[in-house]
Amino acid sequence: MKNVIETKNLTKVYKNFTAVNSLNLEIPDKTIFGMLGPNGAGKTTTIKMLTCLTQPTSGSATVGGFDVKSDPDEVRRLLGMVPQQVSLYKDLTVMENSQLCADYYGIPSDERDSRIDELMELVDIAYAKDKRISQLSGGQKQKASLVASLVHRPKILFLDEPTIGLDPTTKRVLWDLIRELNDDGHTIILCSHDMHEVDMLCDNVGIINTGNLVAYDTPQGLKDSLLKSNESELKDALSQISAESDDSKEDIDNLALRKMSILLKNFDESIIDGLYGVKSIEIEKNNRINLRIDSFDDNAVNNILKHIIDANGIIKSVSTEEPSLDDVFIKATSEVNENDRA
Ligand SMILES: Nc1ncnc2c1ncn2[C@@H]1O[C@H](COP(=O)(O)OP(=O)(O)OP(=O)(O)O)[C@@H](O)[C@H]1O
Ligand SMILES: [Mg+2]
Repeated sequence: MKNVIETKNLTKVYKNFTAVNSLNLEIPDKTIFGMLGPNGAGKTTTIKMLTCLTQPTSGSATVGGFDVKSDPDEVRRLLGMVPQQVSLYKDLTVMENSQLCADYYGIPSDERDSRIDELMELVDIAYAKDKRISQLSGGQKQKASLVASLVHRPKILFLDEPTIGLDPTTKRVLWDLIRELNDDGHTIILCSHDMHEVDMLCDNVGIINTGNLVAYDTPQGLKDSLLKSNESELKDALSQISAESDDSKEDIDNLALRKMSILLKNFDESIIDGLYGVKSIEIEKNNRINLRIDSFDDNAVNNILKHIIDANGIIKSVSTEEPSLDDVFIKATSEVNENDRA
């Protein structure tokens, strides 16, 4: 199976508000897919349709080859879900909730408790196994929810903002767990507002804005296309400006997204004389030079370093700032029609 999830014009309308608008999405099997989007974009609604918690208004979706409308039981058997709002039984303990899940999925009783114990150790919640959900802290509830959703080792795992409220150590444990599950052939769908998390973990990323898919690529692909689109905007802006105002200069500087900072052992003007491909150079007192690179040529950084070395500059350290997934997110979701959010 090439795509484990496919949606065709998937739409959800609440009364007369369209939360998900004709979404066409393909998630390749055995990959980690990151779903990004501003608050209210339609991520959780999409996940609810894919996990058969709510019916699409129109369009279709298949999960593991089964249709969410006509084969919801088959779909449910394949998946595990950590919802945005923890949905465990509040009056049952951590252990009892996990046992209930295991029984629902028919996990043999001789395996059940050892699997649960193993998962509880892994996410560090074993010490609270006999506590009721209502007695737990936010992060502890999140951990309990993780154990319950993983106990049947689902082929497809939906995680809706799973690391919110987790301490940094547990966050890393969960990231490792996501990678391990993926190595074992599980597909993971991860909704998150943590760009670093998505950048690090995901094979592909989709950005949803007001119910529409506005970008879909690998994390690196998204960043590369941001550089390309900034390059063409920069060229357009440069060709339009004849009488340069300070405002327009600033706009152009903001488009030159790549920044570079070089610490030199020695400095004199000849080192930067004739330096090509930079928008601006700022020289600090301690022989540090900060550059804004306006050339999007792949060799731009190489060329700058070579120029400095050829001019007998001795480089102590270099740092460059690439566009981040944050930049991609902000750009992709910047054009919002306020009427679509009402
Ligand atoms: N049951 C419902 N009835 C009416 N409107 C709803 C319902 N559930 C969600 N919505 C609306 O649908 C839109 C999408 O909500 P959704 O929960 O899918 O957003 P999200 O992308 O998950 O946001 P967040 O990042 O805040 O979790 C929102 O405008 C929300 O108000
Ligand atoms: Mg949500």
